[in-house]
Amino acid sequence: MNYEAKNALYIARVEAGLRALLPEAQAVWEDGKIPQGLCESMRYSLLAGGKRVRPVLLLATADMLNVDLQEALCPACALEMIHTYSLIHDDLPGMDDDDLRRGKPTNHRVYGVGPAILAGDGLLNFAFECMLQNAMRYPQHLEGHVRAMAVIAARAGVTGMIAGQSIDLLYEHRQMDEAALSYIHRHKTADLLTAPLLAAASIAGSDEPTLRALETFGQSVGIAFQIQDDLLDIEGDAASLGKATGMDAERGKMTWPALYGVRRAHDMADALWSQALASLDIFGEQADYLRAFVQNLRARRA
Ligand code: IPE
Ligand code: IPE
Ligand code: MG
Ligand code: MG
Ligand code: MG
Repeated sequence: MNYEAKNALYIARVEAGLRALLPEAQAVWEDGKIPQGLCESMRYSLLAGGKRVRPVLLLATADMLNVDLQEALCPACALEMIHTYSLIHDDLPGMDDDDLRRGKPTNHRVYGVGPAILAGDGLLNFAFECMLQNAMRYPQHLEGHVRAMAVIAARAGVTGMIAGQSIDLLYEHRQMDEAALSYIHRHKTADLLTAPLLAAASIAGSDEPTLRALETFGQSVGIAFQIQDDLLDIEGDAASLGKATGMDAERGKMTWPALYGVRRAHDMADALWSQALASLDIFGEQADYLRAFVQNLRARRA
């Protein structure tokens, strides 16, 4: 199967999986069901059409490591729920205070701050409920699923994405600091891009060299991805990106272009994309999809 066909297949699996896991609520409130308003606000952001980078990375890595795609689908969707919650909270007035996300008004703009906090909380908790239910369906691979959930929890958690977000906030309008900037990017972004790779490898029961290569790949792609996000905030187009541009400078955010200048930030991202490709060498042609995925991500303007 060529790259486009595989990509379409992974995206279609993720979109269908998300809709199946979180169908529309039927009642305002009823025991054992998600209340209608809460469900609507969770679906509003989750089904708004993000790029689905993290769940596709999980499915593609699972495929490469010979894990059944159906078995990996729930962790993939759960990761997209966690990522979406992080975006809803990132956009709140107490954080980046943004009005546009995925081409639509941000969650709190539509539903209010309180409901948006709960939509984020809901997506985070529901992600783990879904993964736990899924793990119990595969008792023969239970240890792999538990390890995958542990990886996802840690990379999304208080030493991972949340840690990165907390230092991102701490350093707003502060003196630029290379070590802090590197910490922020590794954790707020690269950790959630490494999680799908290591989660897939956990389910597959992969060996140490595989885990090490995927860790390097995930961190390189993740930091390059955030440098690119920072550059697109300066050079990109809001309509194509589906979110406002020029906000990082306004918020006094510590970013790669702010610290090193646009030219050097591009060079650093280029070096990281190359490092990501090199880390796939041990997989030979099995990693051809991931290679093409990286090239597409690298070229994106939207
Ligand atoms: C946005 O992530 C937040 C960053 C880590 C830069 P994405 O660029 O993957 O956002 P969606 O999922 O496509 O909306
Ligand atoms: C956010 O980084 C990363 C998250 C953990 C959500 P940004 O604040 O730069 O993401 P955007 O630009 O709002 O998507
Ligand atoms: Mg932010
Ligand atoms: Mg933001
Ligand atoms: Mg940004």
